[in-house]
Amino acid sequence: MSVAVFPGSFDPVTLGHVDIIRRAAACFDRLVVCVMVNSEKKPMFTAQERMRMLRAAVADIPNVEVDSWDGLLAHYTAQRGASVLVKGVRNASDFDWEYQMAAINRGLCPTLETVLLPARGDYQHFSSTMVREMIRYGQPMERYVPEAAAEEIKRKGWA
Ligand code: PNS
Repeated sequence: MSVAVFPGSFDPVTLGHVDIIRRAAACFDRLVVCVMVNSEKKPMFTAQERMRMLRAAVADIPNVEVDSWDGLLAHYTAQRGASVLVKGVRNASDFDWEYQMAAINRGLCPTLETVLLPARGDYQHFSSTMVREMIRYGQPMERYVPEAAAEEIKRKGWA
């Protein structure tokens, strides 16, 4: 069984992430979307909130699960028996960064492959950073994030 992991901060999940998840889920038997918990970062959403928004966004994709991990990604993939990391790339700077990350992760786990999926044109400028900025300025969220995430943001009184 082919198992792939799509890791990220997902603070919050965007429509661009969901597009990568759908396309990656079609390539592997199982896709684990992993919310990475970086204790040194102060995210806008808690890990629980980020997981809840993701779970609602991917509820209709049967071979996708959502999990979280506080540690090295290479250790997580080993624990899950995953042989592939999926990353989305929007532009050349993403590619340069992910190329380095792939080498670091391969150094930690030589059998771990990184598969880079190009972002769809309409999502090329989407990022969680941009969404957080839009939230701060009270912009409607439906253009940027899945419905469940837009609702969660509204519930917090932010949009
Ligand atoms: O969505 P992001 O913030 O771009 O995701 C980056 C993430 C979480 C995938 C990356 O920072 C990561 O892999 N963190 C886990 C720690 C790790 O394994 N680092 C190895 C490379 S230094």
